[in-house]
Amino acid sequence: MRPTVAHADLGDPDLYTTLERHTRWRELAAEDALVWSEPGSSPAGFWSVFSHRSCAAVLAPSAPFTSEYGMMIGFDRDHPDTSGGRMMVVSEHEQHRRLRKLVGPLLSRAAAGKLAERVRTEVHGVLDRVLDGGVCDVAAAVGPRVPAAVVCDILGVPAADQDLLIDLTNHAFGGADELYDGMTPRQAHTEILVYFDELIAARRERPGDDLVSTLVTDDALTTDDVLLNCDNVLIGGNETTRHAITGAVHALATVPGLPAQLRDGSADVDTVVEEVLRWTSPAMHVLRVTTDEVTLGGRDLPPGTPVVAWLPAANRDPAEFDDPGAFRPGRKPNRHITFGHGMHHCLGSALARIELSVVLRELAARVSRVELVADPTWLRAIVVQGYRELPVRFTGR
Ligand code: HEM
Repeated sequence: MRPTVAHADLGDPDLYTTLERHTRWRELAAEDALVWSEPGSSPAGFWSVFSHRSCAAVLAPSAPFTSEYGMMIGFDRDHPDTSGGRMMVVSEHEQHRRLRKLVGPLLSRAAAGKLAERVRTEVHGVLDRVLDGGVCDVAAAVGPRVPAAVVCDILGVPAADQDLLIDLTNHAFGGADELYDGMTPRQAHTEILVYFDELIAARRERPGDDLVSTLVTDDALTTDDVLLNCDNVLIGGNETTRHAITGAVHALATVPGLPAQLRDGSADVDTVVEEVLRWTSPAMHVLRVTTDEVTLGGRDLPPGTPVVAWLPAANRDPAEFDDPGAFRPGRKPNRHITFGHGMHHCLGSALARIELSVVLRELAARVSRVELVADPTWLRAIVVQGYRELPVRFTGR
């Protein structure tokens, strides 16, 4: 690892709105840099790592790091996330084990397989609307719809409420700042939490076989714990997957021959899904705080130090991936860390993979050509590396 370098505040979202971010990340990953960001976006500042090796080392199961103070820039030991120790992604030990055991079966490969039909129906509906030869903004019309519908099913939102919830979800996690029906994204998210508060009360009376019911029947969890963990699945399931799905369409539009290769079987769908995950890498960073003295890049970090792992940088580290900027449909091996690594490895990974494979199969079957109408624009964000707009024209078969 190269000696420490001083840098601008890497928590500034303006740094990530153009593709220059990849050039910067690539240099930092190649140097295995350890970078300090002064207090700014984060009250106490933070260290950053970028290489595949260093990101995996920080997230490794036995590494002396915790996410209980929070897992995003902005949180640290002196400014902890109030969900720490209660919401799965920012809890550890007994509470983390308990939550993974409760939630895991509802997101497992088997459960995800059962949801594939729902995904197919949703994709069909979306394609029926967008295969009219007009320009379609995939980031708004395709990406968000599928994950929102799937997450509603998992949580047990009644059919009659799903359109409302899907709309609210799309707005809450769209990343846009403009007002929508007089409501900001934050207000839309609050509306969702109010809705779930009521759903939790209803499921306490009459439990079903959904996630809310599973959580409310566990005596160790308070109503707030249940709400926080519904929110974890809601955010985890929506905010990232929508951009991976949009990225899958971006690949279909820009990788020569990909739709035909998927159709005739010369490109293996599961292998392409892994490349979509690596290439899009929607979760931009995860933060940890040291629990002990740690030596990184030749520097001794005391306990309580925040360290950020930049996942898209690791996923394009030239030491791990040949020609890392290129989308290679047959890339193998493909040891991306898009879903993180270690004890918090994404619990929804099987589901996300199924959503992507159904989207790719259905599009390849029904579309002969996907044409990029204009370059994509990117969200001004640091939590997700996400598409703001992806205008394409689909030609049906
Ligand atoms: C955890 C990424 C889809 C639910 C994580 C983590 C990452 C991630 C990086 C680890 C966070 C950390 O280490 O602090 C992604 C990406 C997805 C995706 C890129 C899509 C392409 C989903 C879906 C769901 C989900 C579909 C559920 C419906 C969760 C949950 C956790 C998690 C519950 C917490 C696991 C734990 O703390 O043990 N995800 N995720 N994710 N994700 Fe995902």
